[in-house]
Amino acid sequence: MFSTTHFPKALKYWHEGKIYGWTDAHVHPMVHALHYGSSVFEGIRAYSTAKGIAIFRLKEHLDRFLYSAAVAKMDVPYTREDITQVIKLTLKENKLESAYIRPLLFFSYGNLGLVPKFCPVELVVATWEWGAYLGEKSVNGVSVCIVPWRRLHHSQLDMKAKLGGAYIQSTICGLETRAEGYDEAVFLNLEGNVAEGPGENIFISKDGVLKTNDTSESILEGITRTSLLEMARDSGLKTVIGPISREELFTADEAFFSGTAVEVTPIIRVTDASNPGGSKREYVIGSGQVGETTRRLRQMFKEVVTGQIKKYEKWLTFVER
Ligand SMILES: Cc1ncc(COP(=O)(O)O)c(C=O)c1O
Repeated sequence: MFSTTHFPKALKYWHEGKIYGWTDAHVHPMVHALHYGSSVFEGIRAYSTAKGIAIFRLKEHLDRFLYSAAVAKMDVPYTREDITQVIKLTLKENKLESAYIRPLLFFSYGNLGLVPKFCPVELVVATWEWGAYLGEKSVNGVSVCIVPWRRLHHSQLDMKAKLGGAYIQSTICGLETRAEGYDEAVFLNLEGNVAEGPGENIFISKDGVLKTNDTSESILEGITRTSLLEMARDSGLKTVIGPISREELFTADEAFFSGTAVEVTPIIRVTDASNPGGSKREYVIGSGQVGETTRRLRQMFKEVVTGQIKKYEKWLTFVER
């Protein structure tokens, strides 16, 4: 019944204290989260290193996970240490060399009023092998479309949290842009600046200066983003944090997405469809090829997550077999 075609190498998942076979599903259709998106989640990657599989920035992901749960007013019956052990166990049970890890906390079965008074908070951890999020084009660059819908604003919802329900905006715009032949969407914020992708942060590079925005621009403060900023500064690149206007994006020498799923994915074309019902205009970023800064950071990121640069081993949590 449940094919694993789009969950390569998935064998088992953990739910509320038990390991289940991947196809062994048992959650009731009336769980609160299924109806209202009352869940919080994380996306974490683990990579194969010379010392075995290692989870990238587990501490920061767990900090954000528990922060998201607090924003969603969840009374979480697990400690950070419990969740760490569950993640390690699930990784081991799946015998993966490299993995995407999905912890999920959700209001479960109890009542269906909007206030989940009688719904316990339950934890799921699943893991599988997830390749390049935006497919083959991740190497040579993707085409994106600025959608007319503005990103949910930080005055409306805490965008620093990964709240399940808020991702319906990402899903709708992801579907819309793909139907029109683009690889991914980009949101402006209510101020009219470039915010982020549906599940990615954005960087631009101009005249050798790397720039990205921050949470004041209604973005999720990506852990990949923060890591890349540190790596860029350490390797002598000048970095700036501030609002990114549309024009800055169109005239950038380089642009790329960052995120756990996409890692570092070059953006080579941007179509501006931000004016609802208006005309669209396509811009080529820089030379239309992957630029040097993007290439360097992409390579360095790969080396960091696979434990090839000693200095950043502090970001890895090794998992014993
Ligand atoms: C909306 C959004 N922005 C940015 C990111 C990138 O964040 P990270 O680098 O922590 O994966 C994600 C992914 O979690 C996301 O969902």
